[in-house]
Amino acid sequence: MDLFEYQARDMFAAHGVPVLDGRVATTPEEAKAAAEAMGGGTVVVKAQVKTGGRGKAGGVKLAHNPDEVFEKASEILGMDIKGHTVHQVMIAQGAKIAEEYYFSVLLDRSNRTYLAMASVEGGMEIEQLAVERPEALARVPVDALTGIDQAKADEIVEKAGFAPELRAEIASVITKLWDVFVKEDATLVEVNPLVRTEDGSVVALDGKVTLDENAEFRHAEHAELVDAASTDPLEAKAKSLNLNYVKLDGSVGIIGNGAGLVMSTLDVVAYAGEKYGDVKPANFLDIGGGASAQVMANGLDVILNDAQVKSVFVNVFGGITACDEVAKGIVSALGILGDEATKPLVVRLDGNNVEEGRRILAEAAHPLVTLVDTMDGAADKAAELASTGKA
Ligand SMILES: Nc1ncnc2c1ncn2[C@@H]1O[C@H](COP(=O)(O)OP(=O)(O)OP(=O)(O)O)[C@@H](O)[C@H]1O
Ligand SMILES: [Mg+2]
Repeated sequence: MDLFEYQARDMFAAHGVPVLDGRVATTPEEAKAAAEAMGGGTVVVKAQVKTGGRGKAGGVKLAHNPDEVFEKASEILGMDIKGHTVHQVMIAQGAKIAEEYYFSVLLDRSNRTYLAMASVEGGMEIEQLAVERPEALARVPVDALTGIDQAKADEIVEKAGFAPELRAEIASVITKLWDVFVKEDATLVEVNPLVRTEDGSVVALDGKVTLDENAEFRHAEHAELVDAASTDPLEAKAKSLNLNYVKLDGSVGIIGNGAGLVMSTLDVVAYAGEKYGDVKPANFLDIGGGASAQVMANGLDVILNDAQVKSVFVNVFGGITACDEVAKGIVSALGILGDEATKPLVVRLDGNNVEEGRRILAEAAHPLVTLVDTMDGAADKAAELASTGKA
């Protein structure tokens, strides 16, 4: 989960990383009031969107007094930055910048380690710098067990070429940013720019944090960072039901047990769909091993509520999950949904208790359900039904 800059700023502050005063506003009036509360001096009005390049897009503007803040906030609120509408701005205390630096630490999947990057030439052109003069961006692998301790921080500031008299202070900020990374379970912490101000202090003027959702169970407090307004309602519902669900763009709803089976189901549906005008899967949904009838019913409920879904393919290989449970789940879900269920279901069951599963479905003889014996055959049928849109 990516955080907004103001959330990253609060997190930095909580771990002792030096930041400037910053307040969030959703209207020009609120922005002006925030500027007044901050003393009425020079501030920066910053668009809060989860994408980079806000400055270049005109989403970061200097304002010298509260009236100017009102004006700039009116311009920025509602703006579109790379497909993200600005609903909030942060009013940040203005810094007198002497120099801009860059620092980040991230999970480096390809090298199976963490990677710290730092440069004395930070600011808005960092992407260009990384391409044109990669030597100006120090890259230092960080061992997961030792992390960024004093020695590692010293190595980073030296490789990045910070002036000797600055190194101790920058190194201390870097170890605090490592604290943010580890203690909050992040996969990315980036500060661009980290600045030295004219009066000599070092401050993080921007912050980007990505949290590792797999570590959510350790951080009940992170729940309040979720941006409910931008969460897909189906994904939110699936999450509340503890389902592994990802919304996709196509029209064939998919339910299977086991991530591997579901992924290959997406493939066979996409392949079969080519024949029917490029019909594609509408989602990934893994009900997992040992799923009960209730879990099956929950899954179907989520998928049938997706307006883009035209047909559903239930693909279950009974191992730990018994096919009769799955069949009961389908029948009970259809019972609960009643007249609301209007989309055809293609079901392929195999494995543990398959005979009993098929018997249950045959006995229920629901008009929307078609049983198909093979995975390819079922994928074909589901794609065909989605393309004709016949209910
Ligand atoms: N509080 C501040 N005081 C003075 N100048 C600032 C302040 N915040 C940002 N700036 C200036 O504005 C520039 C852009 O700000 P910032 O880094 O927050 O946005 P951005 O880099 O465009 O956004 P993103 O990081 O999303 O790409 C900074 O490099 C800095 O020069
Ligand atoms: Mg930035």
